[in-house]
Amino acid sequence: MELPKIHSITKKLLVALVGGFLLLFLLFHMTANLFILRHDDGAWYSAFCHFMGTNWVVKIFEVVLLGVVALHILLTLWLVVTNRLARPTRYHQRQRSKTHTTSKLMMWTGILIFAFLVMHFCQFWFVKVGLVKGDYMVEVEKLQTEEVSTIMQYSAQNGMEPADVVAAVENQMAMYADQLAPEQMAEMEANIQSLKDAVPVAEFISKALREDHFSQDRKWIRHISYDERQMLKEKAPKCGVEPDFYYMSRNLFHNGLMVLLYLIAFVALFMHLTHAFPSVFQTLGLNNYTYNGIIEILGKIYTWVITLGFAAVPILVFLGL
Ligand code: HEM
Repeated sequence: MELPKIHSITKKLLVALVGGFLLLFLLFHMTANLFILRHDDGAWYSAFCHFMGTNWVVKIFEVVLLGVVALHILLTLWLVVTNRLARPTRYHQRQRSKTHTTSKLMMWTGILIFAFLVMHFCQFWFVKVGLVKGDYMVEVEKLQTEEVSTIMQYSAQNGMEPADVVAAVENQMAMYADQLAPEQMAEMEANIQSLKDAVPVAEFISKALREDHFSQDRKWIRHISYDERQMLKEKAPKCGVEPDFYYMSRNLFHNGLMVLLYLIAFVALFMHLTHAFPSVFQTLGLNNYTYNGIIEILGKIYTWVITLGFAAVPILVFLGL
């Protein structure tokens, strides 16, 4: 089998650059996840996710990141395949060299991390892009159009359901219909129609009030189902309903099996990073006798901080802390 020829050093360099980018992403992702541990009803984490989901620079970064993850997998697979093709006949005597063991370890831990990422994406990222159902939230302010506010106000003042408010307005208008000029009538009908369109949103807010689905800071409505999200997308397209990653994460880690699966993935990640960190510096030629010691210490600190930082979230949430 012939693969396109790129010098093996170039491939290694690309793997290292891409790996370096991923090391930075992990540090960022782990730090942000620690917000989940705050007992602030998701105020910080939701604000962070909202920023991540709406800022266009972040959106570009996300595309780059996913490209880089895919590139990292493809490049490493390519390195493995081309190395094997360069040595088609296996040695008769199996050599258990350190490099051989490390690269085997990298391959298996890499496969485990990939399996974890498939599960992880199904639980979170696919919810964001609408491929999987989840729990959602919306900013209250974004729902309060003039029509919705009018209905809510009448509804609260007169103790009526939102649909009844619009029916009452319609009845009143019918009483004056014969006194109105055709253009006034048309305007009135248009106003009533926009009030009718706002009823599902007003009913949704009333239900959220009744069932206390407001966040502590009254900024968000949470526990929105997939069907309600679809309704909001249709009736209030500009409201920007988004996944409730704070609630979803905390909910996920009440499940012991999920905590276990995440912890297994973090052990694989620990082993993968133990080799990956110094390897990035070595391939980029940034190691020498003076810096080797520092890089080794930095690598150990980085790997422990990342692993413990990630592990803290499922463990502490599961323990109810
Ligand atoms: C306690 C552990 C973790 C939690 C609670 C967590 C949570 C999340 C959440 C909520 C998202 C969606 C964020 C968004 O798209 O705005 C996400 C995305 C992502 N996670 Fe994690 N994550 C964890 C660990 C990891 C680990 C260990 C890796 C890598 C090995 C990872 C890789 C990713 C990637 C690549 C994305 C998609 C890119 C992005 O949207 O930021 N996550 N994670």
